[in-house]
Amino acid sequence: MEFREPIPGLENVPIKYTKITYIDGEKGELYYRGYNIVDLFNNSTYEETAYLLLFGKLPSPHDLEKFKEHMFEGRRTALEVIEEVSRLSTENALDRIKIGLILATKYVDSWPRFRGKQVVVDELLAVAPKILGLVHALTAYAVSLDPNIVEENLEASCAELLCKALVSDCMQKHIHILDKLLIVYADHGLSASAFAATVVASTLSSLLYALEAAISALQGPLHGGALEKVARMLEAIPLEKVEEYVSRKLAQKEKLMGFGHRVYKTYDPRAKLLKRLAAKLALNNNGLREAYLKAIALELHALKTLAAKRVYPNVDFWAATLLLIMGVRPENQLPVFVYSRTAGWLAHIIEYLENNKILRPRAIYRGPLGLKYRPLESR
Ligand code: ACO
Repeated sequence: MEFREPIPGLENVPIKYTKITYIDGEKGELYYRGYNIVDLFNNSTYEETAYLLLFGKLPSPHDLEKFKEHMFEGRRTALEVIEEVSRLSTENALDRIKIGLILATKYVDSWPRFRGKQVVVDELLAVAPKILGLVHALTAYAVSLDPNIVEENLEASCAELLCKALVSDCMQKHIHILDKLLIVYADHGLSASAFAATVVASTLSSLLYALEAAISALQGPLHGGALEKVARMLEAIPLEKVEEYVSRKLAQKEKLMGFGHRVYKTYDPRAKLLKRLAAKLALNNNGLREAYLKAIALELHALKTLAAKRVYPNVDFWAATLLLIMGVRPENQLPVFVYSRTAGWLAHIIEYLENNKILRPRAIYRGPLGLKYRPLESR
């Protein structure tokens, strides 16, 4: 059989048609189900956006109420799982969420079933809001380590539950900002994490296992792991050393965390929206304004070199800055991404399963053949 050349990083290789998210990397535009992210950011809520991603249309008031009830059911299911997770010794919040997902397979059946040759997608769509609620509850516990956080906020909005778990002095303005942040993070097409989840789901594994794979892929610093790295970088460098830091990193041909994107060759529209929010919050927050000033200086110096390569700040750069200004510790930042993106991951998995084919690419063999085996003693 003839093979084409391998395509490094599967760059620009399509694996499906989608109706979920459209990204114009040249113009810097992002659409969920046809709606511009700017419009959703200005007018929607995370709950509505999650519904839109999963079900393909904006919800009616009745749809939204039902959707929330199913999410709350997921939060209630999580209570038993949290009890089990709290008895284990775990390293960090993401491990707690992943272990929670695995333990939750006892309580939530999300294995795909068939009608004839077709996966019964309706069943998966019906369980998706419950899984979303479960992940939200696990995340709230994982970042706060407060065993009562979910029970005390069982019917709080998604942004409020997250805010109470993350921010010691959670105020209305923080809830509002988190709601916006959750909207911009909710989906981004076939990112590495969505792809990892899709690979697992394509074997007809449980949706919970697919989400666990997505989180593992997200943790790497080339993907969502950049969020924590940016936060730590902003904490570590004094404002007056920012220029020197950027010059040294770039001179050593190292990557600056929070810059660059596989698809965007211009300013990431999500980063633009979050930068504006960070500016507003920093203006009213003397104590934590420092992070904002450093981020502005870092962007300014980095773009002197990187703009020519069409490398700009990405969503993680401004999300990390915004979260730092709100007082969210670097190690608790990536869980925010998980909290939001679970909606997009579920939407992509279920869309793929509508026309499922196991994802099974090939590697082109370039090694020797016909070698003779020699026994251990004679080697
Ligand atoms: N700092 C410095 N230079 C960069 C950066 C960066 N952050 N990103 C890309 N470049 C340069 C590369 O060095 C390369 O230059 P060259 O052509 O002179 O060798 C060129 O831009 C292309 O970069 P690639 O790494 O080949 O682009 P790719 O599409 O494979 O990678 C990625 C995209 C992984 C996001 C990359 O930009 C990167 O590593 N960024 C830093 C990590 C990061 O912020 N990740 C979060 C991404 S957003 C998200 O996942 C939600």
